[in-house]
Amino acid sequence: MSQDTKPMIVTCGLPYANGMAHLGHMRTYVPADIYVRSQRKQGRDVVFICGSDTHGTPVVVNAEKEGVTPKELVTIYHKHFLDIFTRMGVHFDAYGTTDDEENHIRTTEIVQKLIDNDYVYAKNIDIAYCPHCDRFLPDRYVEGICPHCEAVARGDECDQGCKKPLYPGELIDPRCTVCKNQAEYRSQEHYFFKLSEFDGFLKEYLEALKGTDNAVNYSKGWVTQGLEDWCITRNMDWGVKFPGVEGLVIYVWVDAPIGYIAFTEEWAKANNDSWEKFWKANVSANAGGTLAAQNSEIVHFIGGDIVYHHCIFWPAMLKGAGYSLPTDVVASGMVKIEDKKFSKSRGYVVWVSEDYLDQGFHPDLLRYYLSSYTSHTKELNFGWEMLQEKINSELVAVLGNLFYRSLLFASKNFGEIPTGTADPEILERIKQTTAEAIQALEEYEFKKYSDTVMELASYANTYFQSHEPWALIKTDKGKCGEVVYNSLQLVKALTILFEPVTPGKMQEAWEQLGLSGNVSDVLYEEALVPLVSGRKLGNPEILFTKLEDDKIAEMDEIAKKRVHLALKEAGLVPNEEKLVEDAKSKKEKASKSCAAGEKMSENKADSKDNKTEKHGNEPELLPEITIDDFFKAQIKVGKILSAETIEKSTKLYKIMVDVGELEPRQIVSGIRAYYEMDELVGKTVCVIVNLKAAKLCGVQSQGMILAADDGNGKVCLLMPDQELEPGSDVC
Ligand code: 2FM
Ligand code: ZN
Repeated sequence: MSQDTKPMIVTCGLPYANGMAHLGHMRTYVPADIYVRSQRKQGRDVVFICGSDTHGTPVVVNAEKEGVTPKELVTIYHKHFLDIFTRMGVHFDAYGTTDDEENHIRTTEIVQKLIDNDYVYAKNIDIAYCPHCDRFLPDRYVEGICPHCEAVARGDECDQGCKKPLYPGELIDPRCTVCKNQAEYRSQEHYFFKLSEFDGFLKEYLEALKGTDNAVNYSKGWVTQGLEDWCITRNMDWGVKFPGVEGLVIYVWVDAPIGYIAFTEEWAKANNDSWEKFWKANVSANAGGTLAAQNSEIVHFIGGDIVYHHCIFWPAMLKGAGYSLPTDVVASGMVKIEDKKFSKSRGYVVWVSEDYLDQGFHPDLLRYYLSSYTSHTKELNFGWEMLQEKINSELVAVLGNLFYRSLLFASKNFGEIPTGTADPEILERIKQTTAEAIQALEEYEFKKYSDTVMELASYANTYFQSHEPWALIKTDKGKCGEVVYNSLQLVKALTILFEPVTPGKMQEAWEQLGLSGNVSDVLYEEALVPLVSGRKLGNPEILFTKLEDDKIAEMDEIAKKRVHLALKEAGLVPNEEKLVEDAKSKKEKASKSCAAGEKMSENKADSKDNKTEKHGNEPELLPEITIDDFFKAQIKVGKILSAETIEKSTKLYKIMVDVGELEPRQIVSGIRAYYEMDELVGKTVCVIVNLKAAKLCGVQSQGMILAADDGNGKVCLLMPDQELEPGSDVC
């Protein structure tokens, strides 16, 4: 079977049905939709699958917050996502939910197969438990310190730090996210998938896996670092029941990707087709992980934050249960809003419905922006002015201008496709552009696709302009007809080529050209088929209109208000009254505090301001503390006696510090990336000596060495500017 005739399935990461769709979502779904449309234009039969992720703590926690059941919550947001996809022109062939019966059955079957194949075992482990709420705390119900990088992390993932998946019992200093109280660890029996046994398979598999580098290469690195077995059960009611054990459900990251299979089954039932041709495609020939023998192509489009799940957990599960494997994993880069890290809680978010579609913006403008702003794996920055600039100077000034001027001129002067023949040079140009554009998408280079096609539009504009049909019409109508004919041939080709990116607008253009049917069903090769002279044209209308300054200013204002509101809710923008009160109490406290204490707080404020200026960010002010709070930390001058690496960590050193009369402190510090071991010995530093001891990567840490971080990758130790005896107080 040749590569081209293999059945192809394309999937998108399933959005959690726990909140509204935002721009971050669209950054994955729009390019995936473009890819599918482009495959179809090449004559490829593709099935496009997605659905709502309805289980796990992301859903349960939000349902609790909103005072509804998980089922009620997911029903609302499932509908919401379906509606958004339809409005954005993202057309899935099946869009199920992971709570569908098909997914319960398929997940149970796969987990049972893994059990039967001896890939699952029971083990007693420590699970965070909240004595106050009287319940176990899976995943997002618990937060604490990441054992790998010391960032604040949630139970199943170091979401703000090193991004590693975390396992129950790993978090240091666990706290309940509901009541904020300290949690404790209690031993309980859970079930583990023997991921470590798939080490050899994954190494070979990842060599053959295609997709973007940010997925494939990172994954290779993770396998090299070693894999730990994976806990696949949770103490919850909502989810797919773990077979044979009361009170445990299967971890959401098992049943979510299985949704890809279950939704294919739903599609197959509705279309009287086979799901096995994708997911059971000659698996026996696939032993050892070589993908070439697989008779299907499975392409996953995902966000860059869920690569581990798709390139490590998922193929191992599929392999263990005897299913086909993903052939391509395509991971999108992150989204920034107005140059700020995307954050719903801080207000740096653009809601697809409320902020975009409901404001009257056409979906195709956003589709164009998202796919052509930058390369798919790079960080994408969204700003209203940037949207305006890109749309006005590209879609309006180049593409829209060409379409309108040539269609209007043709309509006014001929009313039909004039008599003419397609110039071989123009046909060659169209052919080359099509080949280059298709090649760009083979490499998942969406920007290159648009840029290549846009170049053809510029060429067409130049062709029209330089042949001056408005002059020719007066002197040589026949010659003028030739020019118009070729201009319209270029418009037709561009309509076909741009359809994957801006499908709604290109359908309008198709009709203006007087062509029938849906341009989405038309193959690329049709771009080279000469237009039929004498065919009646449709009514020419402007396709793309300028985004006006006042609308953009209005959107900017909405965005600013949202950020302001978020800061206020977080207590970071005090209201007038509180400002006066705070100023009074600061004055009183200041008069009580020692000069040195005051000096320190001033310095700290300065350094915050500098940071703010440098990054152009809103200042990040933590809640106020008193000088007494400050002095709870006992900071002493210390001298570093030794530094050594820690076996399990690439970031940490184990450092011994002489702190004077007190016992020397053993401190685990994350400064390995910034200082050589030898360079550290003998340095005079500042140490918090009364910090509660904690274990990091299995090594006891009895304090903290103070350092400064400019937020741009520069980190340095804080050191007194004169030699001081170890044990001197920092005050
Ligand atoms: O990270 C997320 O938003 C998950 N809901 C993605 C699941 S993708 C797949 F595995 F189902
Ligand atoms: Zn971490």
